[in-house]
Amino acid sequence: MSPPAQAPCQLILALDLETREEALAMLDRLGGSLKWVKIGLQLFTAYGPDFVREVASRGYHIFLDLKLHDIPNTVAKAVQSIAALPVDLLTLHASGGREMLEWANRARADHAPGLSLLAVTVLTSMDETQLRSLNIDNTPEGQVLHLADITLQTGIQGLVCSSLELGPLRSRFGREPIIVTPGIRPAGSAADEQKRIMTPAAAAAAGSSFIVVGRPILQAAEPAAAAQAIQAELQPSR
Ligand code: C5P
Repeated sequence: MSPPAQAPCQLILALDLETREEALAMLDRLGGSLKWVKIGLQLFTAYGPDFVREVASRGYHIFLDLKLHDIPNTVAKAVQSIAALPVDLLTLHASGGREMLEWANRARADHAPGLSLLAVTVLTSMDETQLRSLNIDNTPEGQVLHLADITLQTGIQGLVCSSLELGPLRSRFGREPIIVTPGIRPAGSAADEQKRIMTPAAAAAAGSSFIVVGRPILQAAEPAAAAQAIQAELQPSR
């Protein structure tokens, strides 16, 4: 029997704007052109849970990118608080360790079974020299795989990683884990400061579950058209 077809890769807009007004105006301009929005530390710190509810009330699925990292009890309590919000995906740091990940996943199962947790492995801003300075004697890819092992053993649903790590991660862990990849640039668009980039089509082909895209949509003359063009690239070829 052939394996089940992998779910198509979906687009998440990184709503990296300064004010609530700018963010809501952008969502107005986007109309119904995409389904997922990532709210990060900047807007969450400024406007809090009400802003999350406001975006969700417009019909978007929410990826809350808070990258939690603290003692197990504190992270579990934060997950419990987030269970009261309409959030579908939430990030935490894999480097918080096995116990923190287990406690977070237990809080999720008890209070927010519809929520998926995603562990950030190695930040893409870290290179091998920076890992060495933390006494981590591993390459970034080796460390990503090590942290992914720990994360997925705890039952956590997925990972955030660079698209360049998709191949090794899918080879080792198969199709099941959710893998979210930022650092995506449509062919021909500015890389900005992102270095290790892939096109939407290449990331989808390499096994990304969700791509996160910010500036190529936010700074486009026609954001809705830019979002639609990216989504067209994600359709599996027939
Ligand atoms: O504008 P751009 O498409 O580069 O935005 C990418 C988004 O993904 C930003 O919200 C950024 O914080 C996030 N991100 C990233 N690289 C990571 C993790 C998250 O660019 N390794």
